[in-house]
Amino acid sequence: MQRLEKLYEGKAKVLYSTDDPDLLIQYFKDEATAFDGKKKGIIQQKGVLNNKISSRIFRYLEGKGIKTHFVDMPTEREMVVKRLKIIPIEVVVRNIAAGSLSKRMGVEEGTPLKETIIEFYYKSDPLGDPMINEYHIRAFGLAGEKELREMEASALKVNRILSEFFLERGIILVDFKLEFGTHKGQVLLGDEVTPDGCRLWDKDTKEKMDKDRFRRDLGNVEEAYREVLKKVME
Ligand code: TMP
Repeated sequence: MQRLEKLYEGKAKVLYSTDDPDLLIQYFKDEATAFDGKKKGIIQQKGVLNNKISSRIFRYLEGKGIKTHFVDMPTEREMVVKRLKIIPIEVVVRNIAAGSLSKRMGVEEGTPLKETIIEFYYKSDPLGDPMINEYHIRAFGLAGEKELREMEASALKVNRILSEFFLERGIILVDFKLEFGTHKGQVLLGDEVTPDGCRLWDKDTKEKMDKDRFRRDLGNVEEAYREVLKKVME
């Protein structure tokens, strides 16, 4: 399958059309951004590592009954996916306080939560992805009620599946971000599931194995992504 026309270039990936109108190719780049693109850099081989990590996770989730856009990984930087009509909402799932939640609530990173938290953010680069709630989603028609309930159920199920998956490999799934879209009327998990959009901590040392190493200049970013790939392939 060939890449044809470039449809969209994002911060970490490029989307291309193919000769099949139902399928697109996601091309994974090495570019990394943080803080709404204010911080920019390159993580060597990130595109290859993230494509492999995400493909492995999508295949695993499909095997557990989660509907995703994943079709195939034909090359190291390319993923064939179903064409989605994107739902402009980022769904964040949190098991442990970290990042913006720690800041907003004034609690130390690593504070356990009594219950899993789901948050919604409006996907808009110019606005810096503001946090929204279900009322905003309905009032602005960002998603229908049925889509919203399906996204929520899928996000919670993905959390249960991946928390166990990572823990079996010595990694704590602290929080993560998912994106969804519709394809032929079905809500599918889209985008990617990689250390760019997840917080992953070593179970024993609590060492960070995700994009926080880049955001916070902790060093050994590529090494951490490589270690995540090794673990998810086990
Ligand atoms: P946060 O603590 O910065 O709100 O991030 C929560 C989780 O969502 C974390 O795993 C990183 C991920 N995330 C993204 O993938 N993209 C984003 O734009 C943001 C803000 C967070």
